[in-house]
Amino acid sequence: MADTIIILDYGSQYAQLIARRVREANVYCEIVSWRAPAEEVLARQPKGFILSGGPNSVYDPGAPALPDYVLGAGVPVLGICYGMQLLAHRLGGRVAGSTRREYGPATLAVDETAAPLFANWGASDGRGETVWMSHGDKVEALPPGFRPIAHSDNSPLAAAADPARGLYAVQFHPEVAHTPRGAVLLSNFVHRICGCGPDWTPANVIDGATTAIRRQVGDGRVVLGLSGGVDSAVAAALIHRAIGEQLTCIFVDTGLLRLGEAVKVVQTFQQEQGIHLIAVNAVEEYLEALAGVTDPEQKRRIIGEKFVRVFEREAARLGRIDFLAQGTIYPDVIESAGKGREARVIKTHHNVGGLPDDMQFQLVEPLRMLFKDEVRRLGAALGLPDAIVWRQPFPGPGLAVRCLGEVTWERLERLRAADAVFLEELAAADLLREGTQQAFAVLLPVRSVGVMGDGRTYQEVIALRAVTSEDFMTADWARLPHELLARVSRRIVNEVAGVNRVVFDITSKPPGTIEWE
Ligand code: XMP
Repeated sequence: MADTIIILDYGSQYAQLIARRVREANVYCEIVSWRAPAEEVLARQPKGFILSGGPNSVYDPGAPALPDYVLGAGVPVLGICYGMQLLAHRLGGRVAGSTRREYGPATLAVDETAAPLFANWGASDGRGETVWMSHGDKVEALPPGFRPIAHSDNSPLAAAADPARGLYAVQFHPEVAHTPRGAVLLSNFVHRICGCGPDWTPANVIDGATTAIRRQVGDGRVVLGLSGGVDSAVAAALIHRAIGEQLTCIFVDTGLLRLGEAVKVVQTFQQEQGIHLIAVNAVEEYLEALAGVTDPEQKRRIIGEKFVRVFEREAARLGRIDFLAQGTIYPDVIESAGKGREARVIKTHHNVGGLPDDMQFQLVEPLRMLFKDEVRRLGAALGLPDAIVWRQPFPGPGLAVRCLGEVTWERLERLRAADAVFLEELAAADLLREGTQQAFAVLLPVRSVGVMGDGRTYQEVIALRAVTSEDFMTADWARLPHELLARVSRRIVNEVAGVNRVVFDITSKPPGTIEWE
């Protein structure tokens, strides 16, 4: 079992970021609710706790509390923001209600440069590192045993420590990018203070996962729906590494994939990885089901249902199957655990490989505890090609939701050709991995007038969408170089029959969404 840090979630919008920073320091961690039963948490034998921030005041009626087992476990604790206030409130310090909120950057002066929390933190005189503040309440008097170790102009107690009891607290947020040295502080906490080893590495993750898969599956048979996306691809490679021939992958060619994608999936998994793969050509079936349909939600429903039917039919042909494997990743797990309240449905998301409700399989989900960047690193370590490991997200319903209006083969081919030009130019400019998190073409259901040579044209419009985003919940349009846009536009109009105009989408999310349907 890897050294484990437990992050108690007090409703912070940054809990996942804390976890990612800890994982980046090669230490395994899990996020659990502050309400989780003590036995469940202690069973993980944590080597330290991090208490997240949260929207509450410790004085709110029914405010989230500090469970007894945290201080009773005898391991170090780091309280961040609300977590700091909780520690102070609980241990006899004083928390002041918000007289003046503090939100934004602050300059942190470290008063105790020898404190292990601030090892390698910044300038040796402790001056001048920027930290991100976001709080209403703040700690006004420290509990007995604590001493201040850093301050900012507005927060005399920006960081405090009680080294004898292993208790540490910071008012600012070390987990966010706006605290440039924050990762150093979290790494100090988990390594120097909690004593965790740097054992969360791709090689160890692969070892642990393959052992766990073998134990779970025994000599059973596993089926996995491969979409070509990163998650199902890495899950397939990992499970194959663990159980080889006992895994069968089903890949459904819906006709809604991008240029060359179906061929690439088959080549990678069947030929290069040697995985038993059944490739189903269901293009006709999908096109028939989508004929005449223009409503986005109806398209999504049809595609979701169709996938279940095709998958079931193919799986039934395999005879006895004991397990269904899925590429579920940690953010999905955290989000579904946190779903007490139903969010309003903006779009019905559908994941190819999603679990049909009425199928009787046990689940194998080897990526359940991994973040997306960890999944990519694992994929690379398992020998998957860059084109798959670094693939940008692609919606389950595929090009159907980028082909606005009716989905016909001719229009799909038009869209595919335009999209390929855009992606090719972005890749050539090195903007597919870093400069954009998602980029694609959309075919619009309108025609516009143009002139080509001496003739009038009346053809369809391509919209280019390129966004930067951290988590795809919010996004901004990518400021692509004008020269690049000019080249893409020129090439699309010249090379793609049926398109005579190209536009660039300059809407952020919100109010727009990333996809157009
Ligand atoms: P929106 O358009 O809601 O998209 O801003 C946010 C992210 O989700 C992707 N997306 C989907 N992914 N099934 C998926 O697996 C879907 O039905 C689906 N719809 C949107 C979208 O590409 C973006 O990355």
